[in-house]
Amino acid sequence: MSGLILGIESSCDETAASVVQGGKRILSSVVHSQVEEHAAFGGVVPEIAGRSHLREVHRVIEQALAEAEVDPDQLEAVAVTVQPGLIGSLLVGLSAAKGFALRHNLPIVPVHHIHAHVWAATMELAPDDDPFPAVALVVSGGHTALYLAKGPTEFEPIAQTLDDAAGEAFDKVAWILGLPYPGGPSLSKLAESGAADAFRFPRYRPKTLPNSKDLGLPRPLGFSFSGLKTAVLYHVRGQDALAPTPAPEDIPRRADVAASFQEAVVDALVTQTIEAAKRAGLERVFVAGGVACNGRLREKMGAAAADAGMTAVFPSPAYCSDNAAMIAGLGWPLWESGKVGDMTLDASPR
Ligand code: KG4
Ligand code: ZN
Repeated sequence: MSGLILGIESSCDETAASVVQGGKRILSSVVHSQVEEHAAFGGVVPEIAGRSHLREVHRVIEQALAEAEVDPDQLEAVAVTVQPGLIGSLLVGLSAAKGFALRHNLPIVPVHHIHAHVWAATMELAPDDDPFPAVALVVSGGHTALYLAKGPTEFEPIAQTLDDAAGEAFDKVAWILGLPYPGGPSLSKLAESGAADAFRFPRYRPKTLPNSKDLGLPRPLGFSFSGLKTAVLYHVRGQDALAPTPAPEDIPRRADVAASFQEAVVDALVTQTIEAAKRAGLERVFVAGGVACNGRLREKMGAAAADAGMTAVFPSPAYCSDNAAMIAGLGWPLWESGKVGDMTLDASPR
C-alpha cells in the first residue's frame, strides 16, 4: 500500500490539489488563488469563482502530481471536497475528481471541508500522537464554530456564530478602514503598528438564561461579530453610518482602530475556546481555518491555553487557509475506514 492520496479542493476561491502520504506526509500542495479576480468586487463572486476553477483545475492537478513525482497508478484514491461551499465551485472539483478517478480506475473519497481544516492542525503532530478527542475552533471567512472533535469526522457542535464569521468581520472592517481585499491579512498587518487597548470595542458574551444559575446550568457559549463591526463603523463614520467612507488617510488613528478591533475578535475566540475545553475536560485545542493565520490569535490562544494547562495547536500558516493537503490528508483515514463514494456522489453547499 502506497498510502498516496490525491486531494482536490475547490469550495470557494482557491483551486488546489495535493498529494499526501498516509494522511500526514505532504509531497506537494499547489494552490491557485483567485484573490486578484475578486479584488475589484471586494468579495468572492460565485460565477467568477466557478469559471476560474474550470480554467485551472486540470493544470493544478497535473502540477501537484508532477511536484510530488507521483504517477496516477501509484495513488490509492482521489479525495475531494464535496461540502460545504459554493455549489458551482464544488461541482467543478467534484467533476474533475470523478473524471480522474474513472480514467485511472481509482476510488473517490468525499471530504467535508470543515473536518479537513481541523485535520490540517493534526498533520504536524508526532505520528504516534492520537489527536482525538479535542476541542476544535474553526475560524474562516464562512465559519466560526467550536466543536468537540471525537474523531476525524465525528464532530459534535458546541457553539457557533449567531451572525458573521470572524473572517467575514475582518474583511468588512478592513473595507470600512479602506484596506485592500482580502481584509484579514491587510488588517492584521496594519494592527501591528497600533495599540490593542486604544479603544474598547464590545466583546459579545451569550446571555445567561434567567434561573440558569439556580438550575446549575453554565453560561452558554457562542460568538457574534456583527455588533462589533457596527461599533467600528460608528467609530469611524460618527453617528451617520450612511456617510461616505472617509479617505483612509482621514481616519484618525487607523492602526489603533485595527488593533483594537482585532483584539476584540481574538478575546472572544480565546475566552470561549478555553472555556469549552475546560468544560469538556480536554487539554488540547485545535485552531484551524484562514483566521488561524492571525498572529495575535496564535499568540493569545497559545498563552491562554498554557495558563490553563492546555496546548493550542495551529496548522502552519500555509495550511490554515484553503488548501488541498488537508483534503488529501483527511482522505487517508476515510479511505482506510472504507468511506468511499462512487460516480453518483453529489456536492452540497451546506
Ligand atoms: O479558510 P479560508 O481560506 O476560506 C474559507 O473557508 O472561508 O479563510 C479565509 C478568511 C478570510 O476572511 C480572510 O480575511 C481571513 O480568513 N484571514 C485572516 C488572516 N488571514 C486570512 N483573518 C485575520 N488575520 C489574518 N492574518
Ligand atoms: Zn476553508
